Amino acid sequence: MKAVKIIVVAGARPNFMKVSPLLKRIAEFNAGREANADRLAALLVHTGQHYDANMSEVFFRELGIPQPDINLGAGSGSHAVQTAHILTGFETVCETEKPDWVVVVGDVNSTMACTLVGAKMGIRVAHIEAGLRSYDRTMPEEINRLVTDALADMLLTPSADAGENLLREGAAPDKIKFVGNIMIDSLLDNLPQARSSGILARLKLEPSRFVYVTLHRPANVDERDNLAAIWTALKRLSRTIPVVCPVHPRTRKKLEDFGLPSRSEEHFALLEPLGYQASLCLTENARVVLTDSGGLQEEATFFRTPCLTLRPNTERPVTVTIGSNRLTQIERLPADVDEALQGPERRGQIPPLWDGRTAERTLRHLLEASSLC
Ligand code: UD1
Repeated sequence: MKAVKIIVVAGARPNFMKVSPLLKRIAEFNAGREANADRLAALLVHTGQHYDANMSEVFFRELGIPQPDINLGAGSGSHAVQTAHILTGFETVCETEKPDWVVVVGDVNSTMACTLVGAKMGIRVAHIEAGLRSYDRTMPEEINRLVTDALADMLLTPSADAGENLLREGAAPDKIKFVGNIMIDSLLDNLPQARSSGILARLKLEPSRFVYVTLHRPANVDERDNLAAIWTALKRLSRTIPVVCPVHPRTRKKLEDFGLPSRSEEHFALLEPLGYQASLCLTENARVVLTDSGGLQEEATFFRTPCLTLRPNTERPVTVTIGSNRLTQIERLPADVDEALQGPERRGQIPPLWDGRTAERTLRHLLEASSLC
């Protein structure tokens, strides 16, 4: 019996909904095999980049992800400190486990660090969500994407533009596999629970009568002037329509440092970070989503909920060209929100292969490349 060993890496909040469907498909694959047939042995490594219960544990619970086999406990720190912790921790894991594949997702520091370890140890690396580019190297994620894709052996892309970016950068065409958006697998799996999550009643919200806001990018929250201007605009908006904003730990810390309001006021609800299903429910039911998160742009596109992204660019252009997303800036925020509130309640279309079967296609490519089909 042959066992191909895969280490699946997750580190930060937006990773968990991307590893969950793949782990489920791997478990199903193994369960459907004869007892002595070849198998895929999957180990889950949590780097510990995110560690608060509401940034990590709640996602494991809601998404039914098994407990990680190994937690590196990397924690927070500067980029160098955090990356170095993950590098040294993950190298030891790879020395002990000797995997055939390292599978990484997304664009966080954990993604880049584990790719680097795998590549240097001669272990094949597969990147789920390869090829996205904002062409903005002031974003730490863009550096992570470039390094990861330059080193990975299999580049699993969510959209056609991602494949084009990779080809332009000289990636070998046979490395690129257009599999679709794995986030949508989790979204569809969790939709019934999201719809019965009770979050609207709990927050006393009516469908299509509130704006759902999430902001955590350093460019928006790390400078006092920017964050203060955003907060003023949101406060003003809340006089027209209720605003609901779960506050990311980075944003909360900055609000406190800058002496800006971090507690709810009337029609301006500042909450602790929400679980996955509650967030999906708010995204489906919001009149408008205002965000700087990559994942929210995609989820809003799937629900066709009008979305405004408070960034000068997006590495997910299909959410604009096909989906419901538009870019905005702090100065234009009131006018753009106003326009979205006057516009249709649903807009855009769902991009190709955002169909709930991305993990299945991903697994097929991994099996083929491991001669396990
Ligand atoms: C990270 C990712 C970003 C992703 C975001 C989603 C990188 C470079 N950034 O940004 O791409 O969009 O996660 O959330 O990988 N903190 C806590 N508890 C936690 C985690 C963090 O309090 O569980 C606080 C710490 O003060 C930390 C700060 O949040 O210093 C920032 O965390 P960090 O992981 O460095 O970056 P994020 O802003 O979360």
